[in-house]
Amino acid sequence: MTATTMPSSRPPTRIPSLFPQRPITCIEDLRVLAERRVPRMFYDYADSGSYTEGTYRANTTEFAKIKLRQRVAVDMTNRTLASTMIGEPVAMPVALAPTGLTGMQHADGEILAARAAAKAGVPFTLSTMSICSIEDVAENTDRPFWFQLYVMRDRDFIGRLIDRAKAAGCSALVLTLDLQILGQRHKDIRNGLSTPPKPTLANLINLATKPNWCLGMLGTKRRTFRNIAGHAKGVTDLSSLSAWTAEQFDPTLNWDDVKWVRDRWGGKLILKGILDPEDVEHAVASGAEALIVSNHGGRQLDGALSSIEALPAIVEAVRDRMEVLFDGGIRSGQDVIKALALGAHGTFIGRAFLYGLGANGEAGVTQCLDVIRKELDVTMAMCGLRDVRQVTDAILAETGRPLRTGRNY
Ligand code: GLV
Repeated sequence: MTATTMPSSRPPTRIPSLFPQRPITCIEDLRVLAERRVPRMFYDYADSGSYTEGTYRANTTEFAKIKLRQRVAVDMTNRTLASTMIGEPVAMPVALAPTGLTGMQHADGEILAARAAAKAGVPFTLSTMSICSIEDVAENTDRPFWFQLYVMRDRDFIGRLIDRAKAAGCSALVLTLDLQILGQRHKDIRNGLSTPPKPTLANLINLATKPNWCLGMLGTKRRTFRNIAGHAKGVTDLSSLSAWTAEQFDPTLNWDDVKWVRDRWGGKLILKGILDPEDVEHAVASGAEALIVSNHGGRQLDGALSSIEALPAIVEAVRDRMEVLFDGGIRSGQDVIKALALGAHGTFIGRAFLYGLGANGEAGVTQCLDVIRKELDVTMAMCGLRDVRQVTDAILAETGRPLRTGRNY
């Protein structure tokens, strides 16, 4: 691998800003910076929901309605956030979610995020629709990561993708079940987000205001969907890739396909996108280790429950037969503890880490994880607990609980 293609651990060359950077105090600070540094088309891709964006907004606003009980004069020394997710030790119960086009928020984004996750002792999940390939991430990191799979019509390709994840040492497969067809995101259409991106005047002018992003992209060879390009039949250039992806998401996906994936993979399986208790029996019967309560970040069924509203009923339906994980709307450690209190065993962050990545590359993802870790730690202490594994719905105030589960973490 040449020096230009290998993301180095040295901070990238940056054009100095005329304005001193404000200290990063919270995820919103990273969001503001990312919005400034990432081209509009890619920032909007990450930070949008489908149609009216009602579910996308509810994912965050419903968290704010849940209230915690403040406890005092409780010994707060010797606290720990260490836990497990699907049996793997984690420094805190927060993993990086699979997000498409991560390498467009920042050059080599998936590699940088995976490195930050490894340093923080939390899992990183690589999306099928990533820019860096499975092999790119495996070659440039030293901790096993999780791989997220979309089932596509070309089952030969999917079979080989699963084999590639195995060969790369991925320790879990996250199978996404809620994207057989795509919910429309208006901003992507307005921005001309396509493969390759539309070179409209507005996009070119916007790119000219993002010199550091452009410098990064010029310094990497990773600028397309590298899990797919060169691996799927007939995909040789950007326009054939575009046509391929447009017709590949498989609307026939069903629970028999889940079994096929499970058998081909043979390792730990996590089912992502369960939002309704009626789907839980299938998930349990599939033999998967865990499910993720998720509405795809509000990017698919607009009008669906927020993830945090959906969580208690899923926990109740699962009855401890598999691990319940959670994603959707987490922007703080307070949100993490609320999801744990409502029965999630672990959580995922998507946009929160993408903001960090867009703002500051690997250092920004580290900043994001630091912010969330500190907030989770202080919040836990103020709720009167010293061990994150002891979080139960007893830390929730009666007012503002979405639904009672009667179940502990
Ligand atoms: C892909 O996961 C997307 O939501 O765009």
